[in-house]
Order: sequence, then C-alpha cells, then structure tokens
Amino acid sequence: MTRLHAPRIVYVNGAFLPFEEARIPIMDRGFLFGDGIYEVTAVLEGRLIDNDPHLLRLDRSLAGIGIRNPYSLAEWTAIQRQLMRDNALEEGLIYIEVTRGVYEREFTCPPDIPPTVVMFTQVKPVRDNPNLTRGAAIITVPDLRWARRDIKSTALLAQVLAKQEAKAAGVAEAWMVEDGFVTEGASSTAFLVTENDEIITRPLSQAVLPGITRMAIIDVAKAIGLRLVERPFSVEEIATAREAFFTSASTIAMPVVQVDGRQVGGGQPGPVVRALRERYLAAVMEQPREDAR
Ligand code: PDD
Repeated sequence: MTRLHAPRIVYVNGAFLPFEEARIPIMDRGFLFGDGIYEVTAVLEGRLIDNDPHLLRLDRSLAGIGIRNPYSLAEWTAIQRQLMRDNALEEGLIYIEVTRGVYEREFTCPPDIPPTVVMFTQVKPVRDNPNLTRGAAIITVPDLRWARRDIKSTALLAQVLAKQEAKAAGVAEAWMVEDGFVTEGASSTAFLVTENDEIITRPLSQAVLPGITRMAIIDVAKAIGLRLVERPFSVEEIATAREAFFTSASTIAMPVVQVDGRQVGGGQPGPVVRALRERYLAAVMEQPREDAR
C-alpha cells in the first residue's frame, strides 16, 4: 500500500503543504470524537471517477450531522484537481475529510466553529487489482455499527475491526451481517447474481451507505438488460448464487469466489461481474482527463 512518507502535497484548511508540514491540533473533534465526514474518489488515468455524486454525498453526510459544507462543488473539484497536479496523480484515490472543527474537549460545541478540511492523495492500483483475475475470498462478520450507516462518518471502528479480522483470515473483505442478512461490505456494497440472472443488492436505507459505485454499476446493469432486484439477502443465499461481487470507488466491481471458506460460483470470477466492470470502465474512459477540462 501507500508509503506513508512518500513525498506528497496535501491540503489542510486552505493551504497546499508538504505532508511533513501538515498539522491538525490535538483538540480537533475528528481526532477526539470521530466527529467528521469523509469521501473517497478514485482517479484513473488522470480522471476523477463519478466525482460529482461523491461530492453530493459529502454534502448530504455533512448536513446529516449538522456540519456546514465549507465549499461548493466547483471549489471542491478545483482543490482535487490541484492535488492531482501537485502529486502527478494518474491512478489512485483522493481522500476528503471534514470535521466539526477544533474546540476544548466537550461533547458539545458552538455551531459556528470553522470546520477542519483535510485532503490527500494515495497512489494505488484501481484498475489492476491483484485479486481480480482469481477473484476475492471474503468472510462474514457481525455488523457492529451505529444506526445511521447512510452517513459517511469517520467513526469507522467497526469497519476497522472487520477489516483486521478479514486480514487475519487472509481474505480481501468482510461482509457485515445483521439478523442473518448481509448489510454491506466493510468498505463496499454487496451484490449477488442469481440463477435467473437477477442482480440482487440491498435497498437503500439507513442500514447501508448509498454507494456511488453501486449506483453506477446498477445503471450499467440496466443498460445491458439485466434485471435488478433490491432486497436483503441472507448468508445462506450466497452459497446458492451464480455470482457474488462487491463494489466501491477503489475496487470498482470485484468478483467474490469464496465466502467463509466455501466456494461461490464455482470458485471462478463470473461473466456478469466481468461485463459490468468492463462496460463501466469503458464509459469512464470516454470522459476527458481533468487536465484537459
Ligand atoms: N468505502 N459501504 C461502505 C460501508 C463503504 O465504506 C464504502 C466505501 C462503500 C462503497 O461506496 P462507494 O461505491 O461510494 O465507494 C459501501 C470507501 C471507499 C472507503 O472507506 O475507503
């Protein structure tokens, strides 16, 4: 993964700085309480992928916890483009975090303290993920999160623990389970393809994050004539699926070939997820590069 001390220009509250010079006060509420919101946009061949919907979700998440959005869509995009230029970022991620700001450590604070904004880039293979050709193995874990998972909060303890468990099991992702049904991946949206070639994913609600890649992949699925059924699916149902896969900004669409040690879909990446991924990438590559806009 990313080298922490790679030379990098990052953004903090209006300034573009070398990573080593970037500072956040210890009284920042993001640090003390996880009182903040984040977004992650993928960059592929100099393009910000699905960026407007990511920025709109950032706005909704901020409104959801009463933090003022400090920038317009155009201002966010301009900063992202500047970071791409400063870091010569061709492929990877741009991370945005907005916290409620800096205040004496008390649970409440005045509504008008200025939010903290931090942004940085990460170099990462988005397209050529090493898990792609063989497909990913995953585990299931209990969903330990709070009740407003539609808000992209920086309070990610349950997901950190789920991912650590996945890593210890030698697998790529953990699907979180509540009342016997999969909610979503620790950092991805969960999908099945049934014997009847229906695409199954959980409907949007406060139980899951409204994935931006989920939305884009659903659009592709509809465009190629696949039937989408938005409903919860159980852990048992995964074993009967023709294909399983997950989507996120950083993985796009990743085939799942093993769940809790049991094979799914014959243990091979399936044709549906491959088609969805290829169509999606082809559409993305038709967009102009950010430096050509
Ligand atoms: N995670 N569900 C959860 C819980 C997530 O954290 C994410 C994204 C997704 C997929 O959303 P999208 O398609 O908009 O990336 C679903 C990001 C990438 C992260 O935490 O790094």
